[in-house]
Amino acid sequence: MTPPIVRTKAELQARVDDWKRAGAVVGVVPTMGALHEGHLSLVAAAKAQCDRVIVTIFVNPRQFNSPEDLANYPRTEKEDARKLERFAVDAVYVPGGEEIYPDGFCTTVSVAGLTDVLCGAHRPGHFDGVATVVTKLFTQTMADRAYFGEKDFQQLQVVTRLARDLDLGVTVVGCPTIRDIDGVALSSRNLLLSDKARGRAPALIEALEAVAAGLRGGQTLGELRPAAEARLAAAGFTDIDYLDLRAVDDLSALETPERPARLLAAAWLAGVRLIDNIAV
Ligand code: PAF
Repeated sequence: MTPPIVRTKAELQARVDDWKRAGAVVGVVPTMGALHEGHLSLVAAAKAQCDRVIVTIFVNPRQFNSPEDLANYPRTEKEDARKLERFAVDAVYVPGGEEIYPDGFCTTVSVAGLTDVLCGAHRPGHFDGVATVVTKLFTQTMADRAYFGEKDFQQLQVVTRLARDLDLGVTVVGCPTIRDIDGVALSSRNLLLSDKARGRAPALIEALEAVAAGLRGGQTLGELRPAAEARLAAAGFTDIDYLDLRAVDDLSALETPERPARLLAAAWLAGVRLIDNIAV
């Protein structure tokens, strides 16, 4: 069955009010559309843990760093709705820009510290855009639980922190990265790669796995990074924004995994910025 598409905050809130009056636990899966199996795994988790599930689709202009990137972002609402049919979600919230950023909107949610590093250092303002829209989506949906992928690990940390700091009353749930058969993390951005470039994309996860193996064997990141960078360059990656080991709790930089850590990388392949990370 085609899920109900809701386009205004007023209609969404009327529905959610009814559900809440009936005591339902409401889950939300925030997305920018172009849904793939990674998103659908979040929907499945939400369906398993909540009474009512809302999927939001909003291509948030405030989190893009260039107008071309925003313009090129895939928009596939019809296919997205079709992919959601099998989950019987309770609403697909597809707000127009005015529902999120009405005229005169002048508030920014900014999570200090966690956003200064990794993608935050390379994409100025990106996480302010994410934090602001996610705060709006949490308050508009009045969700009890919200589902995010670990593929965007820094985003997951930022959203967890803002929900806690602002007492938004929503529990943020992180879900494992879903990968293609060749190991490449599913991402809407993979659609922007030519077949040839897509064939080279596994080098990113392979480089991370090799570094992780070295770390487990007692080597330091500094010792392992040159070989990983060479591997990426050989596969056709042009720029490496970062290849870092970070503490899970505060994203501080580590040389060895002496505390629970995550190995994260962002690198450019054929003009497309790919990110990935694994636990170490
Ligand atoms: O991960 C995404 O797709 C976006 O950053 C999000 C969380 C939907 C906010 O626009």
